[in-house]
Amino acid sequence: MFATRKLGVIGAGNMGEALIRGALKAGVVQRNRVVASRRTEDALLRLQEELGIATTTDNAALLRDCEVVVLGVKPQGLVALVESQRGHFRADHVVLSIAAGVTTRTLEDAIGLPVAVVRAMPNTPALVGEGMSPYCRGRHADESHALLAAELLSSVGKAIHVPESLMDPITATSGSGPAYVFYLVECLNRAAEEIGLPEHLGRALIRQTILGAAKLLVEAHESPAELRRRVTSPGGTTAAAIAELEAGHFPELVTAALVAACRRASELGRSST
Ligand SMILES: NC(=O)c1ccc[n+]([C@@H]2O[C@H](COP(=O)([O-])OP(=O)(O)OC[C@H]3O[C@@H](n4cnc5c(N)ncnc54)[C@H](OP(=O)(O)O)[C@@H]3O)[C@@H](O)[C@H]2O)c1
Repeated sequence: MFATRKLGVIGAGNMGEALIRGALKAGVVQRNRVVASRRTEDALLRLQEELGIATTTDNAALLRDCEVVVLGVKPQGLVALVESQRGHFRADHVVLSIAAGVTTRTLEDAIGLPVAVVRAMPNTPALVGEGMSPYCRGRHADESHALLAAELLSSVGKAIHVPESLMDPITATSGSGPAYVFYLVECLNRAAEEIGLPEHLGRALIRQTILGAAKLLVEAHESPAELRRRVTSPGGTTAAAIAELEAGHFPELVTAALVAACRRASELGRSST
């Protein structure tokens, strides 16, 4: 899909850099066809040395040079940045924004041209090639632009096309999702110590258990309820633990957490315009 097109990443921070690394590794784009920008010269030098790509602090030059442009800056400054580059966007640009909460409409208005905009919501496992990146199309993006974005996003995990109206619940589910798992691990680590496991042993057991359970969930093609049922004998240890979680209203708490995240995503989206 990229063919002879050049990829520019404005804001090659954690996520932007992960996308560049993924795209290079997957052979989606050649290193001599990538330009990265950020403000810190030292960080750009490191990118040049480690990845063999071109870098710049000049976003206008990047826009002149590249056809596919990833916007990887933080949502707070994104609209101002795009507006400051208004004159440098062209109708043949394909813009992929990964900024949480900023709608395609907001970006189209900030660009001021009928440019193809694709908006994605990756998550941090993209840093290890296991991201989940739902994406949606703006008004001027067609199937070919969506495929281009999907090719790029798939180089750091899975990508799935969704309606933009689902982006807030998606942000609350898979965007913030890794943090819920890490939080559960923190709680398990603490609890394992409290029931007498040495710290290092408890952590090692829990890390591998999370990895193993995730693999089983993905590979066994069975529902989580069925997988849980298999380790839950009536009157057994797992049943005792689950009864305690239910008595503490764990399911309702999880729903309340996602509702709060979804509400916040929508508030942040409104304040980014
Ligand atoms: N982390 C996540 O879980 C996650 C998940 C989904 C989506 N996202 C989205 O991904 C985006 C980036 O997040 P991140 O965690 O990767 O943040 P990050 O590491 O802080 O990256 C942002 C980058 O933008 C650069 N930047 C700021 N102003 C710039 C400018 N005027 N020109 C060029 N570059 C500029 C910064 O460069 P300097 O540091 O050199 O100033 C920094 O490298 C955000 O919009 C976020 O919503 C993140």
